[in-house]
Amino acid sequence: MRSLFSALGFLAATASALNTIEVNNQEFIDSKTGDRFMIIGVDYQPGGQDAYGTGAGDPLSNPKACLRDAALMQDMGINTIRIYNLDSSLNHDECVSIFNSVGIYMIIDVNSPLSGESIDRSDPSSSYHKGYLNHIFTVVEAFKDYPNTLGFFAGNEIINDIGTAKENPQYIRAVQRDLKNYIKNNANRAIPVGYSAADVREVLEDTWAYLQCQIGSGVDMSRSDFFGLNSYSWCGDASSFTISEYDKLVLMFGNSTIPVFFSEYGCNDPQPRLFDEVPTLYGPQMTVMSGGLVYEWSQEPSDYGLVQINDDGSIKLLADFNVLRDQYNSLDINLIRSENTTATSLTPPDCDSSLITEDGFSTNFNIPDTPPGGDELINNGIRNPPSGSIVEITETAVQVAVVQTDGSRVKNLQIRPGATEANFPGAVSGFATASGSGGGASATSRSSKGAAAAPTAAVIGNAVTAAALGAVAFAL
Ligand SMILES: *[C@@H]1O[C@H](CO)[C@@H](O)[C@H](O)[C@H]1NC(C)=O
Ligand SMILES: *[C@@H]1O[C@H](CO)[C@@H](O)[C@H](O)[C@H]1NC(C)=O
Repeated sequence: MRSLFSALGFLAATASALNTIEVNNQEFIDSKTGDRFMIIGVDYQPGGQDAYGTGAGDPLSNPKACLRDAALMQDMGINTIRIYNLDSSLNHDECVSIFNSVGIYMIIDVNSPLSGESIDRSDPSSSYHKGYLNHIFTVVEAFKDYPNTLGFFAGNEIINDIGTAKENPQYIRAVQRDLKNYIKNNANRAIPVGYSAADVREVLEDTWAYLQCQIGSGVDMSRSDFFGLNSYSWCGDASSFTISEYDKLVLMFGNSTIPVFFSEYGCNDPQPRLFDEVPTLYGPQMTVMSGGLVYEWSQEPSDYGLVQINDDGSIKLLADFNVLRDQYNSLDINLIRSENTTATSLTPPDCDSSLITEDGFSTNFNIPDTPPGGDELINNGIRNPPSGSIVEITETAVQVAVVQTDGSRVKNLQIRPGATEANFPGAVSGFATASGSGGGASATSRSSKGAAAAPTAAVIGNAVTAAALGAVAFAL
């Protein structure tokens, strides 16, 4: 039996490490507890894609912003963020340590929108070169030593129709192989590497089949370790398990031998969103999936935000934030954590053209060789800039203003560090929604659901005083 998560452990500001997450066949598993890990996540790209390369920093280089967002995400039950564009010349230690301390893992895209930093889907062979590998290995190097690095996306939506499915599948595998070899030679654990697919149903099943099958009899380094799907097919309460065709996904991925999850989801019609798909995604019908990442944390021109970040760093919560938070709070955490031993003892099929159903989709399983100079990078590693490491968290209180949808200020917003396991809805609570109904609590409250299987605080044993308890109060 796990010990009750002591609220008092939160007070200690110290460097703790999250348990690393491993892939076991169809599921992500906490490497220490053996519990299943489902992604309860959000796509994190404050500033949008256009911010990358402008000198404005990246989403993990501004600790004050990370502290603010981590405090809100911890309250909501978020356990994973996906970050699309990262600049490995910046220092990410503080931000990553903040997210680590509250039980939030990271899935990192190694590519960027800049020229030479991604595979060109219209011309994969000429964009696959040493300079490109140098870029993606540098991102791996920067993030490989953090315990809360859950995985790397080797590619995003490189295949988006039959035309782009002829040549690109083998390049996706080539990049995965190079990344996995880099990790094998230069990291101290096997960090999972996978792909994020567009929800184009014509090519979806073939893409997954191509990437999850096994080439040869040994360790297949080019194989995906997980499969992300960017899906916006469930729109509001007019949709359902069948109308959204989630039922087809369950059939399609029923025997998947790698975890499958939504790497983006959340149709934004109607607005505010209802997030009706959340109970279904995490419910008994869809245990084959490993959860998903809602698109997206901050309001950007595409209009999918949960929060509005202002120029001065203050935040206004949007209605979507509160709706999603309520949906998360209704989830059955025990179901989410239960390992399905059938799902973790499947055997991947051998790669063969018979797995591919659409005419024109690649049946070529001869993976292109690493380009000249690539093996040298893989063997020697990239030493500059140095890898990141977890640092001590010295500040827990959010200083910038965060206001609710009705304009009222959220008081005493802070992170409660010390997590060693994934955050989950109800792990910490006390943050009242717009009506203010939860206000007035004088100490952190915890649901019984949370208490049953809460993460253990890394640092226990600090003297506890009434004043200290007051300091963890987190209420409107
Ligand atoms: C899953 O595998 C079982 C056993 O091999 C098979 O009977 C079933 O049809 C497969 N399901 C799907 C959706 O492929
Ligand atoms: C366990 O996994 C298998 C294979 O994916 C699936 O057929 C079965 O429905 C799952 N059981 C539960 C209870 O989810």
